[in-house]
Amino acid sequence: MRTNKKINIGLSGASGRMGKAIKELVCKKNSGFSLLEEVPPLSGFEEWDKRKIQGVIDFSSPVLFDLAMRWCLLNDRPLVSGTTALNDKQKKNLKKAGRKIPVFYEENMSWGIWQIKQWIRTVSLQNYDLLLEDIHHKDKKDKPSGTALKLKKQFPVFARKKLKIMSFRKGREFGTHRIIFKGPQEQVLLEHRALSRQLFAAGALKALRWLIKQPPGVYSFEDMWGT
Ligand SMILES: NC(=O)c1ccc[n+]([C@@H]2O[C@H](COP(=O)([O-])OP(=O)(O)OC[C@H]3O[C@@H](n4cnc5c(N)ncnc54)[C@H](OP(=O)(O)O)[C@@H]3O)[C@@H](O)[C@H]2O)c1
Repeated sequence: MRTNKKINIGLSGASGRMGKAIKELVCKKNSGFSLLEEVPPLSGFEEWDKRKIQGVIDFSSPVLFDLAMRWCLLNDRPLVSGTTALNDKQKKNLKKAGRKIPVFYEENMSWGIWQIKQWIRTVSLQNYDLLLEDIHHKDKKDKPSGTALKLKKQFPVFARKKLKIMSFRKGREFGTHRIIFKGPQEQVLLEHRALSRQLFAAGALKALRWLIKQPPGVYSFEDMWGT
């Protein structure tokens, strides 16, 4: 349920592409959010005032993600993170953090990719060859994308083994994922294309509005939108 109260946020990765997209949305009239603290500068976390911040949004790097999560744990505040390329230890720590604070994590904060994940789990694919293409701007650091890896995980094990991921980095592409199912006599093409970074920023803000009302745990859109 939407309330009229503004939510005060701390933003980790504020000077980056996603950080700027979040700031643009937060600055809009009636956004329902105010930006109170930001990192970088890296020293910012030490100066963040716990009393003012209701939740933290992080789109940064695996290194900064650790620091953002540490701040949230020390200060008992919810964390929404969309940072990709976390290693196994960080994913374990994320689960541990969920015992103490609400944590929301999604490799892709869009409604469209969430829908595609649902669909993949229900489709029957015995005789199809699978190709997943991930196309992003040239400065994206991880390859394949976190979304591509997450989409792959939705397939049953036998299909995962034959699914090939091809990553392309070019121009200013915000993020396109294309899955091609090639059967003996037909081909099915499923494509999601982000038309702006504000798509992901809006998803993260929605997630935070929902998350601040949840008890400690690790959450995703599955919990927010699922049945
Ligand atoms: N879940 C989703 O829907 C979604 C969507 C898009 C992107 N992403 C992910 O979000 C993350 C950020 O993407 P982006 O395109 O915004 O990246 P970006 O433009 O490179 O921005 C990264 C931000 O993090 C800061 N940062 C990173 N490491 C740091 C460190 N060690 N110390 C201090 N500051 C540090 C950068 O500061 P400086 O500017 O000072 O370097 C910058 O503010 C990536 O993991 C990306 O894959 C997720």
